[in-house]
Parts: sequence; structure tokens; C-alpha cells
Amino acid sequence: MSEENRQIDKIGEAFEQEFGRFADLKLDSIGIGDAEAFLREVGELKVKHTGKKSAIAEAKKLIGKVSPEERGAFGQQVQSIESTMTSQIAEAETRLKAFIAKAKTESERLDVTIPGRRARTGHLHPMTIVRQKIEDIFVSMGYAIEDDREIENDYYNFDALNIPEGHPARESQDTFYTTDGLALRSQTSTVQIRAMERRGAPIRILAPGRVFRRDTPDMTHTPMFHQLEGLCVDKGITMAHLKGTVTEWLQRLFGKDTKTRFRPSYFPFTEPSAEFDFSCFVCHGTGKVEGQRCRPCKGSGWIELGGSGMVHPNVLRACNIDPTVYSGFAFGFGLERMAALMYSIDDIRHMYDNDVRFLEQFR
Ligand code: DAH
Repeated sequence: MSEENRQIDKIGEAFEQEFGRFADLKLDSIGIGDAEAFLREVGELKVKHTGKKSAIAEAKKLIGKVSPEERGAFGQQVQSIESTMTSQIAEAETRLKAFIAKAKTESERLDVTIPGRRARTGHLHPMTIVRQKIEDIFVSMGYAIEDDREIENDYYNFDALNIPEGHPARESQDTFYTTDGLALRSQTSTVQIRAMERRGAPIRILAPGRVFRRDTPDMTHTPMFHQLEGLCVDKGITMAHLKGTVTEWLQRLFGKDTKTRFRPSYFPFTEPSAEFDFSCFVCHGTGKVEGQRCRPCKGSGWIELGGSGMVHPNVLRACNIDPTVYSGFAFGFGLERMAALMYSIDDIRHMYDNDVRFLEQFR
């Protein structure tokens, strides 16, 4: 074999040595990243072994220089080595490209049949649900929803409501005091005064809000709770309007067959005063459910709800409203008790534990 022939064989061997590992490349256990790196390497080897400056390109230039009798065989040898290299490179490139394309499709695949992830929606707190139901009823009767401060001074919490210093009613509503004469309001009745001062008469408002008392928490007490206060002042308002209004909203909330009952009572800011009850919405006033004592009304058929009465002339006077021209009624009740009855909640402390297992039941 001539010197030239040996050189061409060497070119083939050098290629075999470098390219060998791509000739039978195992693709089963490699990732897209590896395959892309291999493809780059193959590209580099292609330039190196078959490009313009490659050894085989140089060898081709020799074809014309060998003697005419050896030229044919030499030319064939060069061509055969070159075509072996290009076909091996092409095959490796094809395999790698196919592998990459398939792996990409696989990784970007979208299964449109997978069920969607449902968005977790929030919901209202049971106290908010009950409050909004009652607000809606009163708004439809022409009442405005009135919101006011939770930190009050003695004047609005007591004096203006006809509860002077030393009055025993201050005792039963002991609240939380600050050092500079302010206190957390113990009742929403404070809003009656604020609203009448601001708006004068006639007035129709419903004031929901937080109130505070120095109570030890138990199943029916929390030191913070909610009240709903109603106030209606106009010319010629009588006790009949009070009874009619209270009966109307309770019937809209619990059904047409709901009855109300007013029992004489005492509140410093109303005269006369009455506590009001409504017929139990579970046993409809019978006191029995399937022969058993009805739970919400404890078998009495009645549920005690709140206080009410005709606004005391002193209260109207404190707000610069002439009691000889105007009269009005007011009422107030606790919302937690109402919500507890409606949803059969046996311990009102649950309302403020923020335990989702409890809260989720009101979706
Ligand atoms: N503020 C009273 C309380 O906390 C409830 C109440 C009674 C409100 C009579 C009134 C009313 O407006 O007229 O016990």
C-alpha cells in the first residue's frame, strides 16, 4: 500500500476513534439536555472531519496529483471513507434530533381531560349572614344602616341614655375602660344618640355593631359580642308601630306564622319598656318536636330576643328633639344568640375561635 493509501486509512481511523461512541449511542436513559449536548458534539465532529479544513478535504486535493494508474483506486478510497463518515454523522444527527423532538413533545404534553382544579372560594361568617339578612329587611322598610364608633365616652354610653352617674344600670353593663375617660361601648344604644344628634328627627335607623362587657366567656357569653339597634322617631309614633315593626321583621325572617309577645320591663332610655319574645321557629310555639321537649325554646314555645320601648323624653331632649312634637320607639338585641338559634350552635365561643371546621359549615 502506498504512502497516500495509508494516510487515507489513518483519516478513517482517527474518525472512528473520535466518533465511535456516537455510532451506537444508547438513548434510553438520557435526558433532553444530554441529547442536545451530544448533538452539539456531533456537529463539531462533522466540521472537524468533513469540513473545508478537514483531513479528508485535504486528501481530495491529492487525487489529481497521484499517478494516473493509481488515481482511480485512490479516488475510490477517499470517497468511500468520506461517505462512511458523512453517513455515520447524518445517522447520529437524525437519531438525536428525533429523540429530542419526541422528548420535547412528551414534556410539553397537555392532558386536556384532567379535571380542573376548583378555585377555593371564601364565604361569609355566620354572624355576617344573619346581620345582612336582618339589614335587608329593614332597608326594605326605609331604614338606613348606621355605623358608629366602638370607643365611647361616658356621655354617649350612659348619661345621654338617661343613665346618670351612680345609676344601677351602669353596674350591669360594666365594660372596659381606658385611663382617659373612654370606654368600649357596652351597647349599640349609643348610636341612637349619635344618629339623632347628626340627623335630627324624623329618623329611621338600624345600627349593627360590636359591643363589649366584662363577662367571663362561657357557652352563652363572650366579652365582645354584637347587637342590632333599631330606632324610629317621627310625629305620632306609638307602641303599635313598635309591635308592628318587630313582628314584621321576625315574620319575614322566620315565616308568616311567627307570633311576638311583649312583656313589661325596665330600661332607663325607654318609657314604657318591654322585652320581646317570638314564637319558636322550630316547634312553632308548641314547645314540642316529635313528642320531645323543643330545644331552642326549652319547651316554652317562646324565644326571648331583646329589649324595646318608647324612647324616653330625656333621651330625645339630650339630642335637641322636642318630645312634645316627636315620639319614637327603639329596640335592641344580641346577634350571637340569634345566629346560635338559627344555626343550632350550642356554644357561641365557636364564632370567634376561627376554626375552619366550624366556619366551613356555613358555606
Ligand atoms: N341596650 C339594651 C341592652 O344592651 C337593649 C335595648 C333595650 C335597646 C331597649 C333598646 C331598647 O334600644 O329600647 O340590653
